[in-house]
Amino acid sequence: MITERLTDDKVGISRAAEILQKGGIVAIPTETVYGLAASAFDGEAIKKVFAAKGRPQDNPLIVHISNMEMLYEVAKDIPKTALKCAEKFWSGPLTMVLPSNGRVAPEVSAGLSTVAVRMPSNKTALDIINKSGLPLAAPSANTSGRPSPTTASHVENDLDGKIDGIVLGSDCTVGVESTVISFCTNPPRLLRPGAVTAEQLREIIPDLAVDKAVLAEPEKGARVASPGMKYKHYAPKTETYLVEGDSDKFIEFVNSKNDGVAVCFSEDADKITVQKLIYGTADDESTLAHDVFSVLRKIDTLGENKAYIHSPSKTGVGLAVYNRLIRASAFKVIKL
Ligand code: TXA
Ligand code: MG
Repeated sequence: MITERLTDDKVGISRAAEILQKGGIVAIPTETVYGLAASAFDGEAIKKVFAAKGRPQDNPLIVHISNMEMLYEVAKDIPKTALKCAEKFWSGPLTMVLPSNGRVAPEVSAGLSTVAVRMPSNKTALDIINKSGLPLAAPSANTSGRPSPTTASHVENDLDGKIDGIVLGSDCTVGVESTVISFCTNPPRLLRPGAVTAEQLREIIPDLAVDKAVLAEPEKGARVASPGMKYKHYAPKTETYLVEGDSDKFIEFVNSKNDGVAVCFSEDADKITVQKLIYGTADDESTLAHDVFSVLRKIDTLGENKAYIHSPSKTGVGLAVYNRLIRASAFKVIKL
């Protein structure tokens, strides 16, 4: 299949909408990561999304909307607290799992009675949803298991020739996928941390629960509330470790290794004598979120046997970065 390159302007947006209306699949920019979009009402199109990514069938997709009317096209019985969250955090990187009204194709929700919904803030994404007039189901536009794509070229590397189109938009500003919370449990539950933080959500949902899978490896065979959290995910091919400890300990540890690359904070880089990749500053966790997936993709290009990543804090946006990194390292954590 030849993948059409589409521009990030009126012409490209109209063409993307046309492909989507005809049952095709198109990668689109969002503020979090690039998504691989298809009409949420078209089961055949959704099957193509799963096939292009090599995604396990039991992992449901997020439906992207551009206005509140569209929410009622896919969900029902929406709790008041969910509407408050929508008012505060939409458009933006928050996904809410709600009761499905049964209209989205069953493939979207992988057979569940719920539907995950988000209103992105990226203007190109909103324009494409508006132009197509369709709620768009879109997982991250990477090959399943690989780091999520935060640039159009990441998408090309993974999916060129497997999808109908790519909208060549700007790089993603947030860099990690949206926060996912479920309103189908009591109390509501954080399933995946993102740029809308647990601390911010607690201002509206004081009793917000945090799913175990956010911070630790799910037990073998356990039922996982958000199926996407059970897979080894985002993993470089290089054997990767997450290293917890202060800067002095991390620097001493990586300098004693001669078989790996250190993934470090910018403030520590000068003191590191082995091969290194910088992924932002510990002082501002949003910089780590912004670069984490690009850095995970770069690790494999360096030809080292191992990668040692300095762990961020587990608060604020740091929790989202930590959550991705324990998966990228297949839960191999070194505590110094
Ligand atoms: O930022 C994002 O959310 C990006 C952009 C493209 O919007 N999308 C994204 O999609 O990250 P994906 O498919 O890579 O991750 C969707 C996550 C998975 O962990 C999945 O299990 C969970 O949302 N999810 C989707 N529907 C769900 C449902 N009905 N119940 C529980 N979890 C659900
Ligand atoms: Mg994904």
